[in-house]
Amino acid sequence: MVLGDPTDSLHAPRATPRLRPRRHCHSHHRIHPHTSSSSRVDYSHLTIHDTYFDHDTTRLNPINHDKPLYEHRSAFKNYNSGGKVPLGLKRKGLRIVVTGGAGFVGSHLVDRLIERGDSVIVVDNFFTGRKENVMHHFGNPRFELIRHDVVEPLLLEVDQIYHLACPASPVHYKFNPTNVVGTLNMLGLAKRVGARFLLTSTSEVYGDPLQHPQVETYWGNVNPIGVRSCYDEGKRTAETLTMDYHRGAGVEVRIARIFNTYGPRMCIDDGRVVSNFVAQALRKEPMTVYGDGKQTRSFQYVSDLVEGLMRLMEGEHVGPFNLGNPGEFTMLQLANVVQETIDPDAKIEYRPNTEDDPHKRKPDITKAKELLGWEPKVELRKGLPLMVSDFRKRIFGDHKEEGATTAK
Ligand SMILES: NC(=O)c1ccc[n+]([C@@H]2O[C@H](COP(=O)([O-])OP(=O)(O)OC[C@H]3O[C@@H](n4cnc5c(N)ncnc54)[C@H](O)[C@@H]3O)[C@@H](O)[C@H]2O)c1
Repeated sequence: MVLGDPTDSLHAPRATPRLRPRRHCHSHHRIHPHTSSSSRVDYSHLTIHDTYFDHDTTRLNPINHDKPLYEHRSAFKNYNSGGKVPLGLKRKGLRIVVTGGAGFVGSHLVDRLIERGDSVIVVDNFFTGRKENVMHHFGNPRFELIRHDVVEPLLLEVDQIYHLACPASPVHYKFNPTNVVGTLNMLGLAKRVGARFLLTSTSEVYGDPLQHPQVETYWGNVNPIGVRSCYDEGKRTAETLTMDYHRGAGVEVRIARIFNTYGPRMCIDDGRVVSNFVAQALRKEPMTVYGDGKQTRSFQYVSDLVEGLMRLMEGEHVGPFNLGNPGEFTMLQLANVVQETIDPDAKIEYRPNTEDDPHKRKPDITKAKELLGWEPKVELRKGLPLMVSDFRKRIFGDHKEEGATTAK
């Protein structure tokens, strides 16, 4: 399915010379030693001479602190065997693409990567993202922004790809085939340049779950032809493609299944429940509860998610991993927390439920706790005020509460 895929043929053929000297030491190390498939691609011709290495492999792995970040770049390790990086060869950080980096989650991830010292290229078509989310990096030589739709192929030389580009709310995802085609293109890029690829999948792959809480081994209960299917099934297909590229082409992949996340920079009117309630309460409109309001969701603050994504990318496990906050709230409880935070008199208005709305959602995060050493830290009552002050500013232009977007 994967080898010889259309994306590959859209990129330059493997044998053609590159536009500039190859600088990665890792392309030929990306093959998994444990992958024994006879159809595996032979990358041996990509061996690159030591003098092109400019990446410091001495940076410590944030999870296994005693190990270098990219141990597999063994050639550089030998070169640097004295433990001292020769002047002029000092690393400039990893080169990382964040597709969808101008969006809500993506822009917070970009902040962390830049802060860590990496070079970041944001690829975004601004369908739901905004330049304002990343404008504070303009002028930083380690930051680039490319307006590009990932349904079209793209060639960039990078070490890692965080693939987030995808309309994530019902209002938007019905109009865009990003999930499948965009993921295929970005996997093609990862395969071509030997980059590690992380897919931001979703708890929606569990559909209306028959198992509670949801463990990664649960295969889900998804309607393949419903109004939400383009998103749910799109992400399921994206996971399939990701695993096929891993097994079939030796691409290093990671899969995160993200549960409801909230925080500053969320799209204001995109129909997601937290942003809906907060915007409505601020505007003194009634909060719309669909159905009886007893359906449950878990709400994760964005900084917790970003930490989980980075641990997953740098760690050794493919996943999938549930990344979410296991605290479970009914919609009515959420509305109450919003009332407490914004306006105790905010009204609630009931509307008929939407089609295929899951009744329950709560992640089992045992796997992420054990293998990534990760768990969320920010409670809803602590994270919500940070989002509220951002929304207030964007809705009313109120600059009084300008400041932190991080919760400790
Ligand atoms: N926020 C959540 O609660 C949540 C939950 C589960 C999964 N996710 C996943 O996390 C990722 C980020 O979600 P988010 O909440 O930040 O949403 P978002 O809409 O704020 O961000 C998505 C970004 O992708 C960009 N984009 C969309 N289609 C594109 C295309 N074809 N080419 C280039 N860029 C494109 C948008 O402009 C936007 O900047 C998505 O893949 C989403 O499915 C998010």
